[in-house]
Amino acid sequence: MPCREVVVGDGVENAVSEQVWSAEVYSRNARFVSDLGVGVVEWLDPKPGERILDLGCGDGALTQKIGETGAEVVGADASASFVEATRARGLDARQVDGQALNFSKEFDAIFSNAALHWMTDGEAVIKGVERALKPGGRFVAEFGGHGNVAAIRTALRALADKHGIDDTLADPWFFPTADEYRGMLEAGGFTVDRIEMFHRPTHLPRGLTSWIETFRAPFFDAAGSRADHLMSELEALLSPQLRDRAGQWTADYVRIRFAARLA
Ligand code: BEZ
Repeated sequence: MPCREVVVGDGVENAVSEQVWSAEVYSRNARFVSDLGVGVVEWLDPKPGERILDLGCGDGALTQKIGETGAEVVGADASASFVEATRARGLDARQVDGQALNFSKEFDAIFSNAALHWMTDGEAVIKGVERALKPGGRFVAEFGGHGNVAAIRTALRALADKHGIDDTLADPWFFPTADEYRGMLEAGGFTVDRIEMFHRPTHLPRGLTSWIETFRAPFFDAAGSRADHLMSELEALLSPQLRDRAGQWTADYVRIRFAARLA
């Protein structure tokens, strides 16, 4: 549900080492992401008639849920495939870089689920959100916090080191602590009503390989003909921690959830 790493402007996702999204693959492998985002929609508490931006809307599943409350919702994502999938639900969606939002005092609230960790320039995101909100507007979101998917990231970094792959491909995300992010919000002009960080072990219904294919394909693209071998190595490294005796994979997710508002 991302708004980063993608060149926008000409409508083309330009990527060798970049994350490229397919709404179809995402919906097959990652439906749990929007299912688990229902709690943060409750924090948003959308009201009929409110104009709300869903930042990093992905395939629009939660955008639609927000719209069903009677709010006037707009999806935003850097991925053309996600924007198309959101529009296919009959919703308004814009292809934008979340780190360069150019809305002005337009929204009553900005919502985001599982997307802010893809936007490594967190200050730029907060600046754009501040500009886009009306006075008193709310910013309510959930994303990965410090330590998120640490086992997976550590194993990918070890493999990058061993096989001479660029380690920024192993670990491209922004996972701050709650204290750090609170400070960033306050520096950006927000009052933070609630912020919490919590562990949420997350079952991967289609296994580790599908998770990697969905969220970290560029690392394996860089491995070229060694990709299958590296995937086996990755599974062997992570199996003791993330795979149970029945063969089920569970990732070590850590979330930050917050509700903030402008004066
Ligand atoms: C997350 O939702 O926490 C996440 C998703 C993909 C990659 C990394 C983290």
